[in-house]
Amino acid sequence: MSTELQAELQTAVERRRNFAIISHPDAGKTTLTEKLLLYGGAIHQAGSVKARRAQRHATSDWMEMEQQRGISITSTVLQFAYQNCQINLLDTPGHQDFSEDTYRTLAAADNAVMLIDAAKGLEPQTRKLFEVCRMRGLPIFTFINKLDRPGREPLDLLDEIEQELGLQTYAVNWPIGMGDRFKGVYDRRSAQIHLFERSAHGQREAVDTAIDLGDPRIEGLLEQSLYHQFKDDLELLEGLGPELDLERIHHGKMTPVFFGSAMTNFGVELFLNAFLDYALKPGSHASNKGDIPPTYPEFSGFVFKLQANMDPKHRDRIAFVRVCSGRFEKDMTVSHARSGKTVRLSRPQKLFAQDREVIEEAYPGDVIGLNNPGVFAIGDTIYVGSKLEYEGIPCFSPELFAYLKNPNPSKFKQFRKGVSELQEEGAVQIMYSADEAKRDPILAAVGQLQFEVVQFRMQNEYGVETQLELLPYSVARWVDGGWEALTKVGRLFNTVAVKDSWNRPVLLFRNEWNVSQVQADHPELQLNSIAPVVS
Ligand code: G4P
Repeated sequence: MSTELQAELQTAVERRRNFAIISHPDAGKTTLTEKLLLYGGAIHQAGSVKARRAQRHATSDWMEMEQQRGISITSTVLQFAYQNCQINLLDTPGHQDFSEDTYRTLAAADNAVMLIDAAKGLEPQTRKLFEVCRMRGLPIFTFINKLDRPGREPLDLLDEIEQELGLQTYAVNWPIGMGDRFKGVYDRRSAQIHLFERSAHGQREAVDTAIDLGDPRIEGLLEQSLYHQFKDDLELLEGLGPELDLERIHHGKMTPVFFGSAMTNFGVELFLNAFLDYALKPGSHASNKGDIPPTYPEFSGFVFKLQANMDPKHRDRIAFVRVCSGRFEKDMTVSHARSGKTVRLSRPQKLFAQDREVIEEAYPGDVIGLNNPGVFAIGDTIYVGSKLEYEGIPCFSPELFAYLKNPNPSKFKQFRKGVSELQEEGAVQIMYSADEAKRDPILAAVGQLQFEVVQFRMQNEYGVETQLELLPYSVARWVDGGWEALTKVGRLFNTVAVKDSWNRPVLLFRNEWNVSQVQADHPELQLNSIAPVVS
């Protein structure tokens, strides 16, 4: 490889940081995203994030929005420059029914930021998404938000993370007071106190003044009780807390914790600065040819998400590709591993909320949007040079199941086309009954809204009015060893076997209790809640 290209790739990787935010709705993800963008000088675009928030709250009429704007509930990729670094924020949809999309986005992220509401602590969707991060071994940064409002004790929050998630915490900064008495945070990196002063209207941007820990003014600035509490906390942290261990952070075993208030933009910059220092840079990815480092001289990447009809005028489809190695250039011709075809990537796009910009080049850690004329599916690898294929993206366990029926036989073709395209796009998982007589596809979703989306799109894009017949199951388990293993165990009770898109057996259960029952009766049966990767 030319040493020039090597140096160029090395520099690009050094400068790139990529992350996704995991949180429960309302923790402040949109607000934090908006504030982070301010630092990247993307101030005008930040408004578009806000506009999306306003819309997102009206989830019931999102279909209307889908029609008006072409997109409403989707992941986009926000790229911004900060301190000589390119930061890629892989934005995930806020609505909890769309967590399947979030899962896939995490497959393209190098780091995760776990955003927690200080008053609520860990919430269900955060826990769920945390499990995905853990499975992927992602480094996790914790931002505890809304300190300007009354919340739970900081130590209590850290304890919850440690106990419930089994994740060691390292407080990078520490709050002084909370709610009305919130005075600021102590930044352990610089040994400075950043004072929080509400601006005249109480809420908007906070004034951030930093003073050294040894500064005699501190006592005067803080109320007596807060000052003593702070000193005690600090002693505890320094005395009993662990040392910062980057290695453990990079393996997702320790989380650096930050306190702040996204709404008033307090603590966000401190967070961003530390994040740049501690976050994992784009690294190697496992492929059939072993680990491919980002500095591998040829371009390669994988599709982690597909999105249809982002622009209503063009009825187009976009494949989101995570660049893994080499340099991507506009108009490049690449090979598509699954089909063996070559594809010219003529209009690669950088995506920023609604705005799209044609990009000239991209580097490992970046995400590009490609027009997808039906070639790409989730998990596909594209590459230049000798063939390689990245490990696929796992499917996540659906919790809702329904037959999708087409009552109008003359629409048979459109129905079949719609089902297969929506499946390929990953809008929903599709399964079929093991009983050949039942030929209707079974939609398997993580949220009710996914069903509505499928029905809506079947009608709007394929002209088929469908009917749903809900099935009484809530748990899916993939069987290790396939049909052979399943046949061996003989008859099973309180479960039904269906096949997934790859013809693999999946057992559906009404509840977890039935899963335990079957497991107890047949300990030899290996059941997985996440589908094995297909490569
Ligand atoms: P999400 O994307 O995670 O769902 O959360 P979002 O940013 O939409 O924030 C949810 C609510 O929490 C918003 O209030 C937002 O203003 C508020 N919020 C976010 N960060 C902070 C913070 O640091 N402090 C306080 N006090 N509130 C915060 P809302 O009333 O739903 O919307 P809005 O009227 O403020 O737009």
